[in-house]
Parts: sequence; C-alpha cells; structure tokens
Amino acid sequence: MNDSQPTPSEQPPKRDLYPNELAEQNHNRQPRAELPWHLAFDLQDVEAGLAERLAANPDTESFAREALVGDRILAVIFHAGQWYAMDGICTHQGGPLAEGHVADGCVTCPWHGWQYELETGTQTTSRQPLQAVFPIRQNGTAVEVQLP
Ligand code: FES
Repeated sequence: MNDSQPTPSEQPPKRDLYPNELAEQNHNRQPRAELPWHLAFDLQDVEAGLAERLAANPDTESFAREALVGDRILAVIFHAGQWYAMDGICTHQGGPLAEGHVADGCVTCPWHGWQYELETGTQTTSRQPLQAVFPIRQNGTAVEVQLP
C-alpha cells in the first residue's frame, strides 16, 4: 500500500452531490453501452406518414408524446431535428410534460409553467437539473430509449 494514500478511516465523509455532479450522474443523454434500448413507440403506430414528415422537415416539425417505458412515464419529444426523452412527470406537482409547449430547446409544463431544457432537464428559473433526461434514438421507425 502506498503510504501517501489515506486509509479508509481517513477518507473524507460522503457529501451530497453538487448540482453539476448530479446532472452528470442522472441527466446524461450520452448512450451507455451497458444499457439496453427499450421501444418507446413506433412512429408507424402513432400516425401514418409521421416518420416521413419528420424526416422531410426536421427543422420545422415538432412532436411530443407520452410513453410508458418500463415503470417510467416519459415525455418523448422531437424538436429542431432531434429526439429527446425526459421524465414525463413535472417535478413541481406532477404535470404532464408531454402536453407542454415546446420551443427554443425547452418544454413548458402545461399546469403552472415551469420550463425545462430538453438537453439537460435543467429548470430554467432555478438552474437546477430537476428532470431526468435519457439517451434516445430513432431506429427506422422505432423510437428507442435507454433507461438506467
Ligand atoms: S406541475 Fe408542472 S409547473 Fe406545476
């Protein structure tokens, strides 16, 4: 054992995570090789021609739908040419984020107007990462999500 290493009894006590560390841990949209992909829904089952419409007009088309994946309710959102998956239950009082207004990279809860960044789940007023976000991809017409 290296003498310069602290012994277990000398380890600093565990502390709460800082918001940026929490964001790194729980709000990471980067795919992780060890996690399986789960089907959120198939675009063909949602609406005939939807996949083609989104592909033809990625900058102007948007789409949002609630999806039950495992035991989680997600807000699955297509905005500005990208897919996003976010915990679908608003941290404030449980509003349905999939029914929220989507603009400028954010979704606004329809109940009381809390707004979250799609990329990070950060609540825009408090700057806290309150909504979990997850890796998402489109595989053909299937929209798939990775959950921890
Ligand atoms: S429940 Fe979403 S803002 Fe209140």
